Amino acid sequence: MTSTQRWPDWGWELLQLLLIVSFSQAEELVCRQREDLKNPQLSNDGDIILGGIFSFHSSWKNRQDSYMYKPLPLECTSLNFREFQFAQAMIFAIEEINNSTDLLPGISLGYKMYDTCGSVARSVRVGLALANGNEAVSAPSEEQCTKPAQVQAIIGETTSSVSRAVITVIGPFYIPLVGKSGKYTYDSNCLFDKTKYPSFLRTIPSDYYQSRALAQLVKHFGWTWVGAIRGNDDYGNNGMATFTETAQQLGICLEYSVPFFRTDPPDKIGKIIDIIKASTSKVIVAFLTQMDMDVLIHELSKHNLTGYQWVGSEGWILDSQTAETDRHHLLDGAIGLSIPKAHVSGMREFILNVKSLNSSGHEIFTEFWETLFSCKFKQSESSTGNERECTGHEDLTGVQNGFTDMSLMPIFNNVYKAVYAVAHALHILKKQKKNSKINFHHILQEIKTINFKTKEGDEVYFNQNGDPAAKYEIINWQPTENGIVDFVTVGLYDTSLSADKQLKVQNNSLVWAQNSKQVPVSVCSEKCPPGTRKVLQKGKPVCCYDCIRCAEGEISNTTVLLTAASLFGTFMTVGVAVIFFSHRKSPIVRANNSELSFLLLFSLTLCFLCSLTFIGRPSDWSCMLRHTAFGITFVLCISCVLGKTMVVLMAFRATLPGSNVMKWFGPVQQRLSVLAFTLIQVVICILWLSISPPFPFKNFMGFKDKIILECALGSALGFWAVLGYIGLLAILCFILAFLARKLPDNFNEAKFITFSMLIFCAVWITFIPAYVSSPGKFSVAVEIFAILASSFGLLICIFIPKCYIILLKPEKNTKKNMMGKLYTIIISLQNNLRDSYCKITNTS
Ligand SMILES: *[C@@H]1O[C@H](CO)[C@@H](O)[C@H](O)[C@H]1NC(C)=O
Ligand SMILES: *[C@@H]1O[C@H](CO)[C@@H](O)[C@H](O)[C@H]1NC(C)=O
Ligand SMILES: *[C@@H]1O[C@H](CO)[C@@H](O)[C@H](O)[C@H]1NC(C)=O
Ligand SMILES: *[C@@H]1O[C@H](CO)[C@@H](O)[C@H](O)[C@H]1NC(C)=O
Ligand SMILES: *[C@@H]1O[C@H](CO)[C@@H](O)[C@H](O)[C@H]1NC(C)=O
Repeated sequence: MTSTQRWPDWGWELLQLLLIVSFSQAEELVCRQREDLKNPQLSNDGDIILGGIFSFHSSWKNRQDSYMYKPLPLECTSLNFREFQFAQAMIFAIEEINNSTDLLPGISLGYKMYDTCGSVARSVRVGLALANGNEAVSAPSEEQCTKPAQVQAIIGETTSSVSRAVITVIGPFYIPLVGKSGKYTYDSNCLFDKTKYPSFLRTIPSDYYQSRALAQLVKHFGWTWVGAIRGNDDYGNNGMATFTETAQQLGICLEYSVPFFRTDPPDKIGKIIDIIKASTSKVIVAFLTQMDMDVLIHELSKHNLTGYQWVGSEGWILDSQTAETDRHHLLDGAIGLSIPKAHVSGMREFILNVKSLNSSGHEIFTEFWETLFSCKFKQSESSTGNERECTGHEDLTGVQNGFTDMSLMPIFNNVYKAVYAVAHALHILKKQKKNSKINFHHILQEIKTINFKTKEGDEVYFNQNGDPAAKYEIINWQPTENGIVDFVTVGLYDTSLSADKQLKVQNNSLVWAQNSKQVPVSVCSEKCPPGTRKVLQKGKPVCCYDCIRCAEGEISNTTVLLTAASLFGTFMTVGVAVIFFSHRKSPIVRANNSELSFLLLFSLTLCFLCSLTFIGRPSDWSCMLRHTAFGITFVLCISCVLGKTMVVLMAFRATLPGSNVMKWFGPVQQRLSVLAFTLIQVVICILWLSISPPFPFKNFMGFKDKIILECALGSALGFWAVLGYIGLLAILCFILAFLARKLPDNFNEAKFITFSMLIFCAVWITFIPAYVSSPGKFSVAVEIFAILASSFGLLICIFIPKCYIILLKPEKNTKKNMMGKLYTIIISLQNNLRDSYCKITNTS
């Protein structure tokens, strides 16, 4: 009985309907149903009647339609206990409302329930019967061939295809159809199209939400490589399509997705088993109905397919029948979504009290009774004689079968809510329009905007699609000691909450496949260890990759190079310092303001060394250190140069008559100014570090298969403040040195300082655009290069000419050669000897 076999039925029915329409014009004016549909299987009279569509039978005897004769009515087979439970739940709600004095007081409720046997053809007929009534009505004229419908609203139906048939027939009349359950039923996305099915509402959320929730659940446990089995019907195919789409967005890859239907031939099942065996993923997502799952698990048990972590849809995850079928415990540890467990007080007792189904005394009750107690009534035709005889006094104590199993209580609750939704809508309408006629359209509008709470506190309302808010419980199959599986609720999924709060799982209470406490791992490739990088495998999903060692890229080559340069710079500076120190008494060193010179050499050493902090793997500390160390040492450096420049300028002023510069730029002031300039930078750095310090940062941008580990600046303002301050000092220094460059003397340091500052500024002006535009590792290389270049610039311009004189032209290194006025003044500035100053002025 696949859906393809149903279509001839359906086509026949349409043909028949068309014929009715065309022939009825010629016939006498009697309005009657063409089809001899029997009376409702279950009914009870009342002022207001609710229709019910159930498949009390789940199949029918195959018949060969020849299209020569009118087909015989369907012979339904396979009694379906589940549907009787649904019917009982509906009767329970109706009786409760009937008894209530608050809801529809003084109005009695009745019901008419028809059996569709799961046949599309029959459901069309049932839909018409509920809309029109069954009785023939003679009418003198065409206009009078109308009468009110039998029912005010319809609850239920069984499968997607059936529900579509019913809604197509009754939809144009706006008879509200409130879906009762949706267990692997019409909660498929087809019914999303509300322009086509405006009168359809449901009390179970659309599977669209379930599929998305399943994908998020899979993501939550880090399973990025999963297999999938889907039911080969609307439920499975649509559900899996949505799952696949969401999974892709979440970075989950499907290793395989195979369709399965319970009537599939053995070779097809064999292929599925081969696929599972050949797979490397350990997680199987099964989007199937309980009927399909039972068959599948039965087959898998034969092949020892243990050790897989199952993720289940609401179709089977809460079904104890499936758990019973799973004798080999393949499904232990399964996790999945179900509509929230529910409790409706009195419901269970009511359902088990089957006598209420006998209210209309129809033959279906006898069949039900016989099947329930596995006995036969004496007068029953089908009695073969070797069965136990029914007494009519059997009771359910000790009986355990599909009818006594209450695991579908959440769905009974949905039936219950559906009936109440209709009753509330009718209640409001009755109050509003005391005597005027209520039509379907009004009822439908009212149901759509209904919002009430059941006696158990469940809020019932429909969104603009006619769907309730999607709420699921996360169910975990936990084996118990006696071999029975417990369905433990381990979390919640609620679409009415914000995205980050929708999924809540209690990790510690989970049991996984093979009774493990560890979350199973299902990935195509393990995470790449540090020092290696992902390389995608050709033709495989993105979750599959190889890890290869990170190539020694450009940064590594330059890093070698840059380290050597910075070490060379350091040694060179130390060398210059040694030369200066050993010749500290020589005129040229003395003339060069030896205190500031040594300080400058010291800070240059630090500058070279601080470039080393940029090399190597960024850590919290190295990130914080690198920019601040660089900022402070550079300011120290430039303040020394600035100090030297000022001394030269001051010295020139001091040679002019009447100036008294000595007083206010002696060694103490020089030291203080260097200290003050540096302190400002220290303060900037402290602010930066305390407000928003730089931190190590993985940069995925720009390179798809590479990750760049770099230091994020934290506060860009901090970084630019540090750089800006250096720039400010450098420019100040440059201007002063420029002013002093033409001062007459045969030894004028200002020239060298101007030149070094020119190099310095050029380097940093080119650095800034390069820094801003180069990504990740290159920006570091650029920064190191800038530091080294400017340090070498200072070192070479300021110190090398002096070393040259000291070492190679000692004849120039004489007091006489240095003897300008400037020299003596500089010496005196260094020593702050007012006496010597006086002496000099006296001698001149
Ligand atoms: C509802 O109540 C009326 C009397 O108030 C009763 O006749 C009718 O059978 C009841 N219907 C159901 C479904 O219990
Ligand atoms: C409705 O009232 C009748 C009579 O009082 C009672 O027997 C029946 O159990 C009630 N039904 C429900 C569902 O409460
Ligand atoms: C639960 O486990 C998942 C995956 O193992 C993990 O991502 C998540 O943070 C855990 N949540 C809690 C609350 O421990
Ligand atoms: C299944 O596994 C059990 C134990 O692991 C082993 O004894 C049995 O032979 C296996 N059956 C098949 C069909 O592989
Ligand atoms: C069902 O109702 C009929 C008539 O009301 C009664 O004769 C019969 O015994 C009932 N069946 C059972 C099993 O209670």
